[in-house]
Amino acid sequence: MQEKILVLDFGGQYNQLIARRVRDQHVYAELKPYNKITVEEIAAEGYKGIIFTGGPNSVYDPASPHYDKALLEAGIPILGICYGHQLLAWMAEGKIGSAGNFSEYGKVTVKHSGGVLFEGVPEESTFWMSHTDSVMELPEGFTGVASTGMCKVAAMEDPARKLFGVQFHPEVQHSEYGKQVLHNFLFKVCGCSGDWHMDDFCKRSVQQIREKVGDGKVLLALSGGVDSSVCAALLAEAIGPQLTCVFVDHGMMRKNEPEEVRKAFENWDINFVGIDASTRFLKALEGVTEPEAKRKTIGEEFIRVFEEEGKKIGSVDYLAQGTIYADVIESGAGDAATIKSHHNVGGLPDYVDFKEIIEPLRSLFKDEVRQLGRELGLPEYLVSRQPFPGPGLGIRCIGDVTREKLDILRDADAIFREEVDKAGVKDANQYFAVLTDTRSVGVMGDMRTYGYTVALRSVTTDDFMSADWTRLPYEVLEAAGTRIPNEVKQVSRVVYDITSKPPATVEWE
Ligand code: XMP
Repeated sequence: MQEKILVLDFGGQYNQLIARRVRDQHVYAELKPYNKITVEEIAAEGYKGIIFTGGPNSVYDPASPHYDKALLEAGIPILGICYGHQLLAWMAEGKIGSAGNFSEYGKVTVKHSGGVLFEGVPEESTFWMSHTDSVMELPEGFTGVASTGMCKVAAMEDPARKLFGVQFHPEVQHSEYGKQVLHNFLFKVCGCSGDWHMDDFCKRSVQQIREKVGDGKVLLALSGGVDSSVCAALLAEAIGPQLTCVFVDHGMMRKNEPEEVRKAFENWDINFVGIDASTRFLKALEGVTEPEAKRKTIGEEFIRVFEEEGKKIGSVDYLAQGTIYADVIESGAGDAATIKSHHNVGGLPDYVDFKEIIEPLRSLFKDEVRQLGRELGLPEYLVSRQPFPGPGLGIRCIGDVTREKLDILRDADAIFREEVDKAGVKDANQYFAVLTDTRSVGVMGDMRTYGYTVALRSVTTDDFMSADWTRLPYEVLEAAGTRIPNEVKQVSRVVYDITSKPPATVEWE
């Protein structure tokens, strides 16, 4: 039987990240909400270990998520992280509290005194913390094995019962030895051997899709981006001729993109339908300027087009989408706040005329999706494309969306992307132009101009959940800053966006 780890979700923004970090170490992990699985079910599933996630609550708050204390006696190793660490201490009868006004947020130096979790970790190293409450009194059987200047019990262990807790977040990239701590838990405590690989995900998904769909028909919303292309390949592998891929040109694609997508997919051995729906999308967007309203309008229009296509084909039960984890979490899942409604999740209308929506990539991060694409034999140019949001240039065109503004943006964006590509900037993972609704005065050939301001955005990231702005070479910025106002006459000014995510997001809307 394949080894697997249960990540028990107590609510929080980045809990899939823990599951993902476990998978990174070739151990299969699945995330389940704490209130959807009982101790008996956990024991029956044969998990090698359990990780309690963080969460925004305080354990003594009656509304906070708790778990059956019997789990501690089930003989399954447990690692509690942040809130999960406090919850573990509370379940084992320790004491939690907050010492006055103190909270630790960000990078903190953690000093440890040994123990299996810290094997291979220097006595002092940096971990990322975000908490107000702490373990104040250790439960019986536990020893404190790490501390910070402010937090007495930054880590605790009860090796006899294989129970461990860490106040810090080992799953976060900024935790220098986070990977090592997780590795120690998985391999030295739980006894995992690392038998999970992306081809297992692929096989498992193909199997699940076949079981769910049977001999039914599936319509896939294909945008030509990485996610929907990988989804298409996965579905093609699972159900082949039962699949129809519909590419909708909503009029907000990048320059030459509709033609490129058609060319890339028309020769595949799949049913492919390309539709120019730009007029109806732009009509629906008339007068819509608020970002969330734009996303919802575009999302709704997409569904209506797919419903109509489904009816033309006849008896289509399933609509498939290449939704990935970032879309789900940013659209607000469980207790996490809505950042923006990714059109294929939060942008869906209340009523959808399909029996079910299937999203086989929903638990994967962007780089895992790329890995899966390679596994499925997709060409590198498709797999390594930079992401492009479902609502397209509609959310990069600030204010109202018109054909004229989209054309200006398309031209400016093509120039910027060409310059970044030409320079071969390695750490630019997504780069594009935004047409702001600010106009400014310029001078060209002794004449006054009053044109649009274009903002350039480039981010460096591996999972798009957080991102840094790219330190583009000045030469690239200079070339874009010169060419755009010269070649796109409605633009009189170009600026570069130097905000990271957080506090900004990648897209402007
Ligand atoms: P944000 O702006 O949320 O973007 O920081 C993170 C990543 O997600 C992409 N994005 C979307 N992708 N549908 C998508 O398929 C959407 O509605 C959507 N909104 C943002 C964005 O381009 C970036 O890569």
